[in-house]
Amino acid sequence: MKLESYSGLAALVTGASSGIGRLLALRLARQGARVALVARRKGELEAVASEIRAHSGDAIVLPCDVADANQVADAARHACRRFGAIDILVNNAGYGGQRTFLEWDLSDMERIMRVNYLGAVYFTKALLLQMVERRRGWLVFIASVTGRIASPEKAAYAASKFAMVGMAEALSLEVEDLGVHVLTVYPGVIRTPFFDAEMLARMPAAARRSMVEPDGLVDAIFRALAKGKRELTYPRGLAAGYVVRALAPGFMRRQVKRVTRSSPPGAGTR
Ligand SMILES: NC(=O)c1ccc[n+]([C@@H]2O[C@H](COP(=O)([O-])OP(=O)(O)OC[C@H]3O[C@@H](n4cnc5c(N)ncnc54)[C@H](OP(=O)(O)O)[C@@H]3O)[C@@H](O)[C@H]2O)c1
Repeated sequence: MKLESYSGLAALVTGASSGIGRLLALRLARQGARVALVARRKGELEAVASEIRAHSGDAIVLPCDVADANQVADAARHACRRFGAIDILVNNAGYGGQRTFLEWDLSDMERIMRVNYLGAVYFTKALLLQMVERRRGWLVFIASVTGRIASPEKAAYAASKFAMVGMAEALSLEVEDLGVHVLTVYPGVIRTPFFDAEMLARMPAAARRSMVEPDGLVDAIFRALAKGKRELTYPRGLAAGYVVRALAPGFMRRQVKRVTRSSPPGAGTR
């Protein structure tokens, strides 16, 4: 279902306090949508809301930990009450990590599933029914190329994104005849605060070289919605990896190992 005009629509963006989510929220508002901003840091959300209001847009701030189902239900209820309904849900909140399976703390492996995967489940559960009842809605899942091609030191993160991708694919098939469109987005390496100092230091050189600015991704997401696409990989060339993986899994495995070999300690800071 093509999404070409945003005026009169209401959107909810999780992870709107920073990076990709912040830019998506600003762009949605600029296109005429009213926007509910969700993340944990209230002050950062207020700053985004002020920016939107300064350009005559409408935004509300809903501080919420997406890993907490009760907080999500409250935030969703509040957004629906304020805007009447939510037409566009962007499940974007998430975080990463770059460490071996043995280094990854078990409680954080559980936490990353709750934030990256269950957070999206909770918000979709809370908002899908009112979309189906109105036979109008768009669900955008910000997954990752790592949700289709796993790499070393990404086990917990990859698991959370593979889970999101599986859920989004099944859901897309279920709801497409009910007026709800699902777009799953597979970003590559995007320059945002997602990468903390530790991740940058351990990031393989090839990944560091492939890093791109978030504005291009946001443009591509809006183009994909306008065309009614169901999947978007950005930068586009990375999608070739899915074909290689399917046709030549052994070759792909060697390539992934070669290009993701960790940088020596401190290399990212040089
Ligand atoms: N940057 C990349 O290269 C890249 C590549 C592929 C996929 N992605 C995905 O893109 C999404 C956005 O990442 P980004 O690059 O924009 O990173 P970012 O700048 O660090 O933004 C992450 C956002 O998620 C929010 N968030 C994290 N934990 C949360 C929680 N428990 N509850 C509510 N909000 C939470 C953060 O807000 P608070 O801290 O205020 O809660 C922040 O707004 C993530 O899902 C990430 O996996 C990013």
